[in-house]
Amino acid sequence: MKILVTGGAGFIGSHTVVALHEAGFEPVIIDNLYNSNLNVLDGIRQITGKDFPFYEIDCNDPEKVRALFEKEKFDGVIHFAAYKAVGESVQKPLNYYENNLISLMVLLRAMKEFDVHNFVFSSSCTVYGQPEKLPVTESTPRQPATSPYGNTKAIAEDIIRDHVYSAPGLKALSLRYFNPIGAHESALIGELPNGVPSNLVPFITQTAAGLRPSLTVFGSDYDTPDGTCIRDFIHVVDLANAHVKALDLLKEKTEADHYDVFNVGTGEGYTVLQLINTFEEVNGVKLNYTVGPRREGDVEKIYAQADKVNHVMKWHAEKTMADALRDAWNWQLKITPQK
Ligand code: UD1
Repeated sequence: MKILVTGGAGFIGSHTVVALHEAGFEPVIIDNLYNSNLNVLDGIRQITGKDFPFYEIDCNDPEKVRALFEKEKFDGVIHFAAYKAVGESVQKPLNYYENNLISLMVLLRAMKEFDVHNFVFSSSCTVYGQPEKLPVTESTPRQPATSPYGNTKAIAEDIIRDHVYSAPGLKALSLRYFNPIGAHESALIGELPNGVPSNLVPFITQTAAGLRPSLTVFGSDYDTPDGTCIRDFIHVVDLANAHVKALDLLKEKTEADHYDVFNVGTGEGYTVLQLINTFEEVNGVKLNYTVGPRREGDVEKIYAQADKVNHVMKWHAEKTMADALRDAWNWQLKITPQK
């Protein structure tokens, strides 16, 4: 099956391209390189020994997307390409709604026109807000989003659900990712944030590498064992493999108009301080950090109940948080210029 991977040069996208190849799919990458880098393609090439078709295309450009669909004859689409900085989305909501939602609709229209029937969407546990009961299952009610970014994910899920209902033959899954971290164990691909990272692990690895003076832990007065937030940290390679399983599941589905959502997490929650301690232990490095005030918009604790993805998709997280933190550190060492 030939699979279009939008945002395929990005963090989760690049690892998914590798996983697709290993599972016998043929990935085709499009990316506008807004938050990614052409060097990623070299990393993918070194891991797989293959040069996958790459197009520098923005998914918001309907003409270019149409022309690509006409040329490539896809069997499925995995849609990663999106803006994802929570804070920035509060400052520039229109950019987020425009970019994240128009690209989705451009793709769905092209899929309809060219009879492409399998769609996997990159959603987020952010759609649950701060749930009343933990762990969260797929039937835990979604809460009003705490940021425009989060709202784009909730609206996108609704658009897909409604469109599937109206589009004969289309089958789609939304995967609600928890917190992806880590890098490929080869250290040939990993997370490459532009500018100051807003996510925890790239900030930690850049601090440990001496690129930033200190990490601030956002809040230590939460109602958790050590006062810091709890998250479900999932290794990016495990998450990439979940996309292969998602396509396998869609292939099996014979009924038309199939739509479903899955949590993709490990099912275990760890605090920010537990993660920092694990990082220091597995890598034998000391991290410079201080505890600061809470970050606006953060939820106190969230982790997945992963039963549905385990049983229905037959996917399990295989790697530990320690594996992810070791791989993230090896990647950081690889990309940090040596003094
Ligand atoms: C956020 C989004 C999530 C999105 C992801 C992608 C929300 C609620 N969550 O996840 O949907 O998919 O970003 O970017 O919208 N932390 C520090 N210091 C730092 C950075 C982070 O202490 O310098 C803490 C945060 O307060 C949080 C945890 O680390 O408790 C994880 O933060 P982060 O990596 O930014 O991810 P989320 O906010 O959980």
